[in-house]
Amino acid sequence: MAVHEITTGLNFQLTEEHLAVKEAAREFARTELLPGVIERDEHQTFPAAQIKRMGELGFLGMMVDSKYNGGGMDTISYVLAMEEISKIDASASVCMSVNNSLVCWGLETFGTEEQKQKYLSRLASGEVIGAFCLSEPEAGSDATSQRTTALDMGDYYLLNGTKNWITNGNSATFYIVIAQTYPEKGHRGINALIVEKGMPGFVVGKKENKMGIRASDTHSLMFTDVKVPKANRIGEDGFGFKFAMSVLNGGRIGIAAQALGIASGAYELSLQYAKERKAFGKTIAEHQAIQFKLADMATQIEAARLLCLQAAHLKDQHLDFAKASAMAKLFASQVAMDVTVEAVQIHGGYGYVKEYHVERLMRDAKITQIYEGTSEIQKIVISREILK
Ligand code: CAA
Repeated sequence: MAVHEITTGLNFQLTEEHLAVKEAAREFARTELLPGVIERDEHQTFPAAQIKRMGELGFLGMMVDSKYNGGGMDTISYVLAMEEISKIDASASVCMSVNNSLVCWGLETFGTEEQKQKYLSRLASGEVIGAFCLSEPEAGSDATSQRTTALDMGDYYLLNGTKNWITNGNSATFYIVIAQTYPEKGHRGINALIVEKGMPGFVVGKKENKMGIRASDTHSLMFTDVKVPKANRIGEDGFGFKFAMSVLNGGRIGIAAQALGIASGAYELSLQYAKERKAFGKTIAEHQAIQFKLADMATQIEAARLLCLQAAHLKDQHLDFAKASAMAKLFASQVAMDVTVEAVQIHGGYGYVKEYHVERLMRDAKITQIYEGTSEIQKIVISREILK
């Protein structure tokens, strides 16, 4: 049993169950995600068959109660699985992260019993996947400036507007859409609505041609006079912004774990390569220049891992975790960038070509500093918490 002690005085242990989840995720990633990962990235092919398998193995609703078809696991298990899957395929892991953290956790925590029966149980089993729709062409970091409107029409909301950069944009079946109902009330006038694919007036727009996580399915979405039943609103009238902020606190743990996995994947490849590659009559691992790089990478990764586990532990203990999750994401995403750049450097010319994986990991790392709040947004969240 591995014991992790963390600086806040909190202690937690990885149990046999945690280690079994980590091993299962590692095995799945190596046997079912690794084959074809380069080609899927190159051709921007969504890993539909692999995501279906992730559902069957319980990776898409890990923290959901078993009565809604979830795995009933804790957030630490989720971090461990996210790291292993992200080592191999960050395009698959972003789909996993959004479905687990933003969609399933949000519905389980704030949804009605009817919404849980109708939507959550299908999302948690992986029968279908979900999307979280907050960003707009003119509302990214400034999330209160929603232009999408949800007019109150009595029995239903009339939804109009455009969402951008939506993960699982085309592959999702259910979408949580954030929209403005009472503009005069600012963030207290925003609602979160469950929209189903196929509702008249809902159109999936263009697919983004991205730098990294290219096999993930990122689209704009258009809503024109979409009638969304009142029963599909999550929480009280005007709770939508608070809903979005709450689920993003948890989502940031998932993305921090993704960044950690990208970094540790690049590090493991570099370590292996350094032991095999020879230069100047010995392996490059025997050169101090490479040893120092590996030591720095390992130290950064360990620190990022502890921040991820600390945030997960606080969430599992039902303690305030907003600052911890922002710190984990801020730090782990910087580590992902630093470590992947060094991984390419250690690999030399081989690092610059696709077969060795590290160039893809370097491209994938960058998005972890942008989505679910840029690094600058994490600093806003952290500084507000420490100043309040
Ligand atoms: N947790 C809980 N509540 C929060 C919160 C948090 N982290 N941050 C703000 N709130 C609450 C505040 O307490 C406040 O509530 P009260 O009025 O009751 O006090 C309310 O929300 C409004 O807060 P602010 O006045 O602080 O709002 P703001 O306009 O200054 O913005 C912000 C705050 C932190 C910058 C916020 O806009 C933000 O987080 N922006 C980033 C949005 C983001 O992460 N987008 C990612 C898109 S989703 C995505 O990327 C998914 C994907 O595809 C992978």
